[in-house]
Parts: sequence; C-alpha cells; structure tokens
Amino acid sequence: MPPSHIATAFALALVAAVADAAMGNAFSSGPTADGNFIRLANSTLVVPEAPVPQVGLLSLWAGMGMSNGDLIQALVESYDGVADGECGLVHGDWCTYASVLEIVGCDQEQLGGRQIKTKPGDHVTLSYMYNDRTDAYDQYVYVNGVQTSNYTSSKGGKALGWGTAEECQPDYPCGLIPAHDWVDVVLELEKAQPNYSDTFGNGGSTGTLKTTDGGKTWTGSKLHINEVYFDYPITYDTPICPEANATTYTSRANRSYTVGCDIRYTGSDIKTVGEKSGKIADCVVYCDQVEGCVGVVLQDTTCHLKSSKGQQVSAQGVQAAILQ
Ligand SMILES: *[C@@H]1O[C@H](CO)[C@@H](O)[C@H](O)[C@H]1NC(C)=O
Ligand SMILES: *[C@@H]1O[C@H](CO)[C@@H](O)[C@H](O)[C@H]1NC(C)=O
Ligand SMILES: *[C@@H]1O[C@H](CO)[C@@H](O)[C@H](O)[C@H]1NC(C)=O
Ligand SMILES: *[C@@H]1O[C@H](CO)[C@@H](O)[C@H](O)[C@H]1NC(C)=O
Ligand SMILES: *[C@@H]1O[C@H](CO)[C@@H](O)[C@H](O)[C@H]1NC(C)=O
Repeated sequence: MPPSHIATAFALALVAAVADAAMGNAFSSGPTADGNFIRLANSTLVVPEAPVPQVGLLSLWAGMGMSNGDLIQALVESYDGVADGECGLVHGDWCTYASVLEIVGCDQEQLGGRQIKTKPGDHVTLSYMYNDRTDAYDQYVYVNGVQTSNYTSSKGGKALGWGTAEECQPDYPCGLIPAHDWVDVVLELEKAQPNYSDTFGNGGSTGTLKTTDGGKTWTGSKLHINEVYFDYPITYDTPICPEANATTYTSRANRSYTVGCDIRYTGSDIKTVGEKSGKIADCVVYCDQVEGCVGVVLQDTTCHLKSSKGQQVSAQGVQAAILQ
C-alpha cells in the first residue's frame, strides 16, 4: 500500500521530522491558529496484536508537533533483534515509553523515559500537559492506569498540532499492522478555536474530535486506525530472477543465501507470511528473524519459511533463497 495522502500542514511537518520513515494511516489535527496552542493532550492506545513476524522498527504513537521543531511522541514499538531496544527482545509484546524527538544542535535525538514491555490488549495512556511554571510540557505514560514512564521536553516550545501515527523505519518492511483504536482522546487548546476542526485529517482512519464548549476542548471516544501493510519503502536490493539464479545473496543480517529461480523446495513450513512486494529479499528478512528457518520460498504472495530444505523441484515463477 502506498503511504496515505496526508492533507494537513501539521502532518506534513511530521513527515519532515521523520523524513526517511514510511507513515501509515492516521488521524491528524492542526496547526492551531496564530497565537493559539494545545495545552493538554490525553489519549489511550488499545495495544493491538504485534505484527507476525516482528521485523524492522514499527512505532505507534500519538504526537504533538512543536513550534520549536520538537516532536513529543510517546512510543509503543515493535521490533526485531537488530533494532533491539531497552526492553530487550519483545517476542509478541511491544515496548512503551515517554519520548521526544528533540532538536539538539543541528541534530534530532530520540530522548525519553523508562521503557517497559506492554502486551496486546493493554491500555497505554499518554498524557502531555503544558506546565506554566516551567514553560515546558510534562509527559506521562500509564499502562493499565499505572504510571510507567515520564519525560519533560525542552522549554519554550508550544504544541501546534496533535495526531496519531504508524511509522515504519525504512530499512525493513514492517509487514501487516493490525487495525487499532485510540480511545478517550481529549485536547485542550489555550484559546477557543471553533474552526480547529477544519484542520482535521482522516487518512485511513475513522472517528473525529468534537467540542461542546465553543472550541477550547476537543474530545473523541474512539479513533479507529485501519490496518496498513508496510512494504514501502524498501531501500535494499533484491535478487532479480532469472539473472540471480544460483547466485549468493547476503541478507541484512549478514547471512548468505543461494537464490533459486523457478524453483521450490519440498521441506516443511515453519510458518507462512503474506508478502505482496514479490521480492524474495523480503522473505529473507523474515527468515533471518525466525529461529530454525533454513530457507524461504516465495510463491504467489506468500513466503514459506522452511524448517528443512527437502528436495529441489522446478516450479514456474517461484523464487527461493536457501541458507548456505
Ligand atoms: C489528562 O491525564 C492526566 C494524567 O492522567 C490527568 O491528571 C488529567 O486529569 C487528564 N485531563 C483530562 C482533561 O482528561
Ligand atoms: C520520572 O521517571 C523517573 C525515571 O525515569 C523517575 O525516577 C521519576 O520518579 C519520575 N517522575 C515522576 C514525577 O513520576
Ligand atoms: C480559524 O480562524 C482563525 C481566526 O479565529 C483564523 O486565523 C484561521 O486562519 C482559521 N483557521 C482555519 C484552518 O480556517
Ligand atoms: C559478515 O560476515 C562475514 C563472515 O561471514 C564477516 O567477515 C563480515 O565481517 C561480516 N560483516 C558484517 C558487516 O558484520
Ligand atoms: C536455476 O538453476 C537451477 C539449477 O541450480 C535450474 O534447475 C533452474 O532451471 C534454473 N532456473 C532458471 C530460471 O534458469
């Protein structure tokens, strides 16, 4: 699926902030009118099942684009051993923490609080609150009502927009991300802005925020984010058949595979994974992450991850990669 069209200036600013990443479906709002800003943003993610297998670095977040270029974005992340974070291997879980993508000198740095594992079905509440005393935003993360992480961003910035995101880092496909819900969303603006809803964008999402006080407070009981399939953009080369037949392909995990064109193997499948890209390299990414995988066969749009090779048989249009 191509990345969704993103309408608002706020969303464009987000994409600029995360220039190399692929963005999936989202609800977005902002920017606020001149002189206005978001004082408070609370929201709760009902954590979905993790992608299977967990590859790449996938981040679900609700964030605020700031006037000073920072991005307040508590993160709920799924990743593989290569992108391993403070939570260690997540194995079907997610890793959650308060965080800011902060401008530090000429660079951006991902800073934040304590990281803890969270499970599908957990309710992760993100609370971002402007603190008048410090002129900074205090950020708190709660898992099932218990505070687990906090972070205070640099002072001086004002939040100009709020939105949800599904973000996949470019070096791997992240696969199929299940649909999920953000519930109990509340935004409080500094000043009432009845036309704030004109900035709302639903790219691959349903639900919206409404106001009952003339535009100062905006609430939504549920924002539903549709499933997304991340096979874009993939920045590594894939062997091309038939030229690559019988050549060696070195995977991202630095393992050597022999490529086969118009070939399949009869050994048993550990599991199968849908793969719409048609690239054998994407199947290899999965094989690299699954223990006991000795090779992979791409037939139609399915990667067959093999626990044994079995026999090589000819099969028109089928691609294979067998660990050497
Ligand atoms: C936002 O969340 C914080 C922390 O849970 C809570 O103290 C505050 O009352 C919430 N505000 C609103 C308006 O829901
Ligand atoms: C914020 O998190 C730190 C650990 O990162 C913890 O020591 C501190 O008590 C927390 N602060 C609040 C106000 O919860
Ligand atoms: C909303 O109204 C304000 C004036 O109150 C105006 O400055 C701003 O451009 C309007 N925003 C949109 C998105 O129409
Ligand atoms: C890849 O593996 C080979 C040995 O198979 C090793 O010589 C090389 O240093 C490795 N490269 C990286 C980037 O780890
Ligand atoms: C690839 O090489 C194998 C022998 O290793 C051969 O059987 C097969 O026909 C070749 N495929 C193509 C497309 O040439």
